[in-house]
Amino acid sequence: MSLFRTKSLEQLIEAGRRPHGLKKVLGPVDLILMGVGAIVGTGIFVLTGTGATTAGPALVFSFIIAACACGFAALCYAELASTVPVSGSIYTYSYATLGEIVAWVIGWDLILEYGLNVSTVAVGWSGYFQSLLSGFGIAIPAALSAAPGSVQGVDTIMNFPALCVVLLITSVVSMGVRKSSKINNIMVAIKVAVVLLFIFVGTKHVQPQNWQPFAPFGSTGVLSAAALVFFAFIGFDAVTSAAEEVRKPERDLPVGIIGSLAICTVFYVAVAAIMTGIVPYQKFLGVDHPISLALQSAGETWVAGFVDLGAILGMTTVLLVMTYGQTRITFAMSRDGLLPKFLSNVHPKHGTPFITTWIVGIIFGGVAAFMPLRVLAELVNIGTLAAFCLVATAVMVLRRKRPDLKRSFRCPGVPAVPILAILMCLTLMSYLHWVTWVAFGVWMSIGIAVYFLYARSRSTLGLDAMNRSGRRQAVVHLTE
Ligand code: ALA
Repeated sequence: MSLFRTKSLEQLIEAGRRPHGLKKVLGPVDLILMGVGAIVGTGIFVLTGTGATTAGPALVFSFIIAACACGFAALCYAELASTVPVSGSIYTYSYATLGEIVAWVIGWDLILEYGLNVSTVAVGWSGYFQSLLSGFGIAIPAALSAAPGSVQGVDTIMNFPALCVVLLITSVVSMGVRKSSKINNIMVAIKVAVVLLFIFVGTKHVQPQNWQPFAPFGSTGVLSAAALVFFAFIGFDAVTSAAEEVRKPERDLPVGIIGSLAICTVFYVAVAAIMTGIVPYQKFLGVDHPISLALQSAGETWVAGFVDLGAILGMTTVLLVMTYGQTRITFAMSRDGLLPKFLSNVHPKHGTPFITTWIVGIIFGGVAAFMPLRVLAELVNIGTLAAFCLVATAVMVLRRKRPDLKRSFRCPGVPAVPILAILMCLTLMSYLHWVTWVAFGVWMSIGIAVYFLYARSRSTLGLDAMNRSGRRQAVVHLTE
């Protein structure tokens, strides 16, 4: 039974209330902006290229399918976030609802997801950075421009710019710099402006014959691309994490989530349609800056330069958020005794988990240097989709186990919506490459082994329970 020991929900909820005492100031528009800011990034700027070569112009449908899967999962997410409104993420929710082993599995999964997300975005960043440099006639030596084997016919050794940007962000995060909400708003504005600029300028260059054939690889192509571009929607949980600061969570949270997903879907569908309308989809093979490539092919070199710059800035903020998120998950698991204690040491001057941040930065910077984009994105997706399935399960379990809990937002149509979320996520997962499944399986098996060999016996929760029962036995012994 100790595998399923849970933290006390009441204590967590109480702890969540105590430290911040947050003001309820956010309305639906704030939430929608927050969501769009967290969602738009590498997915749209980079993965649309690979998506286009997988689905053809029917990529527009891939985006819609991925958005639906996210929408259902997001409603479940919102219920959990509003029931257990503590900082942290589904790792914390599941520790309080589904038990330690499930929390461990999710935490281990999230370490991979956030970390590889950093690597993926860094590779995308590098593509746009190199495209921007090339506008000034500067080229990075081919050998240092991409991961080995990622560019056909070119002997590449490593993606040096990707490694550099991760290390740069690591140093910033390790010194305690967090993204301010003001910078966030500016970045959201830049990202949205870049997307709108592309839509506005690109529309003029669309040649409808490029949309024929529309779905050259049939439904398999469309679903495989959906499983890949799902990445473009990751990040909406930022909206749910603000649950406590929302004026009317039961109304505004779903509006924020569905609203930001809907806006991004419209953006993505428009970008995909225009991109594949400007350039035949085959041209995007192996391209990691598809949006600016489309503009360059249309002769809009200046606009392409602006898009490069906007994409670089936008992706830099995603890198900051993800690096921050990764270190905090590792920190939380270490504080709970599930990972070595030194990982939750806080630097005396900077007030950050300094060692953890650098370990994470070096590992995932190295991954960014040596692994190709598609492999990375698929791994992030499989991890995220698996986590969504667990979130949907947690909603159903919690409704049964604790119907009494106050839920400021209730997911509509339980159990139909969580079940739909699970089914859609599993369908998308089934379209990921088998190598992705094997890699994910290996990572999770290592996780289970670490749990049984290390974490289980060191869990703070477990040790507390043991101490309590030890004390009880001692009392019984003394009174006998
Ligand atoms: N949705 C985020 C991006 O596309 C992760 O970069």
